[in-house]
Amino acid sequence: MTSLSLAGGPAASVKADALVVGVAKGAKGLVLVHPAEEIGKALGKGFVAAVAGLGATGKAEEVTPVTNLGAKGPGLVVLVGLGQEPAKGTAYDDEALRRAAGAAVRALAGTRKVAVALPARNADAVRAIGEGAVLGGYAFTTFRSASAGDHKPPVEEVVVVVADPKDKSTKAALRRADVVSRAVMLTRDLVNTPPSHLHPAELAEIARAESSKAGVSVEVLDEKALRKGGYGGILGVGQGSAAPPRLVHLSYKGGRGSKTKVALVGKGITFDSGGLSLKPPQAMEEMKMDMGGAAAVIATMRAVAELGLKVDVEAWIPMAENMPSGAAIRPSDVLAMRSGMRVEVTNTDAEGRLILADAIARAAEDKPDVILDIATLTGAQLVALGARTTGVMSNDDDLRAEVVDAAGRAGEPSWPMPLPPELRKGLDSDIADIVNSGPREGGMLTAGIFLKEFVPDGVRWAHLDIAGPAYNSADGYGYTPHGGTGAGVRTFVQFLEDQQ
Ligand code: BES
Ligand code: MN
Ligand code: ZN
Repeated sequence: MTSLSLAGGPAASVKADALVVGVAKGAKGLVLVHPAEEIGKALGKGFVAAVAGLGATGKAEEVTPVTNLGAKGPGLVVLVGLGQEPAKGTAYDDEALRRAAGAAVRALAGTRKVAVALPARNADAVRAIGEGAVLGGYAFTTFRSASAGDHKPPVEEVVVVVADPKDKSTKAALRRADVVSRAVMLTRDLVNTPPSHLHPAELAEIARAESSKAGVSVEVLDEKALRKGGYGGILGVGQGSAAPPRLVHLSYKGGRGSKTKVALVGKGITFDSGGLSLKPPQAMEEMKMDMGGAAAVIATMRAVAELGLKVDVEAWIPMAENMPSGAAIRPSDVLAMRSGMRVEVTNTDAEGRLILADAIARAAEDKPDVILDIATLTGAQLVALGARTTGVMSNDDDLRAEVVDAAGRAGEPSWPMPLPPELRKGLDSDIADIVNSGPREGGMLTAGIFLKEFVPDGVRWAHLDIAGPAYNSADGYGYTPHGGTGAGVRTFVQFLEDQQ
């Protein structure tokens, strides 16, 4: 895993195999972004014209490697685009820095040590540059033989160049970047791990190990405990699989007068075949990612404990494998849920809401102020918002705005979505309290309406649908690789920091 440290300037004197500096699109063409002008000076007058001649335009995330032609400093200088130069009096936004650092480090795979000299004007910028650089260095290598193919090893060491590496807030920002990016990478690893190697019991054991190391207490409910507790949703979804379901409870007490008690819930379907309402092969291919919500919650709890946030957080993480078999739930089966409600299962592929409903009901029993759930819940999320933007729904307008705002500050795209009450009738059942699957139109919102039925009045709740954002099916970009992205972790850590 890429390590992260600080160094003072001048950038060219930092010992590294490559030095990353910024360029941007100025009013009159390519410009060097501070502290890149130091390098420009060292390399001579014609430098900007020369790199423009190489094709550098300053476009966001554009990477142009140049050799320093024997001048002092690292032999390789990498120019990374920051996009349009900001107007006088404004600065590059943190997400532009995060993406540029990520794009450069991603392109530098195969290099051992990289110094990143981007405009680190304050602690937030240092944090963004650090996060982007480490996350850009991520690679999932667990199942790859070293000898196979020509995959370059990820960058081992990132040094962020700052004005004063001894400054307290700079050091704190770097530490936060380290904790948060390791949490994001844990989430990516879990999402990328194939379902052959990550059944519910194994995911629960990883949650136990990661939590106890960090000082988060753990309780794992196995199938026997689930039966005793009346968790009909989790048991129903899990009953078709040879690998039994689990419910993991993590508890972190930040104490010292935290205002808000928060509960986190994350969907942990280790593989979603659809069950008897079987998915077509194409739609099944990426369904190892259906535990992206669970992974984000496990990693968030570790980060919160490592950062010692002054909040109380309880996490309830339902885990099951959705498989067809002679023991599987059938369309038209009725499940008795933890909350006492009875659900007619009209589509076994709408399984996420069934396990979440039990976990949300359990979380609510402890009377938290806020419940946040996160789930790769609907294909409709992708239709509505595309692959990168999380849909945020809530029973409370202020809470929804707080979550969207926290996501924005963390650099995770999200958008507020409604829960139109008239959609409830699409879930009416002929014989039970509710069905689990409604009409196609507004499918993301209907899933939210279903979950809302399990949130008691007076509890503020928000639901994040990360079906698209959890997994990048396309090529990598910025600090985001192909595959598991770690979506949700930075939003949750930011939201919980805000509660202190
Ligand atoms: N895990 C899927 C949702 C999903 C789809 C996540 C694509 C990521 C990418 C979920 O369990 C599911 O199958 N939802 C159904 C619900 C429908 C049956 C009401 C869907 O979206 O088609
Ligand atoms: Mn499904
Ligand atoms: Zn699913």
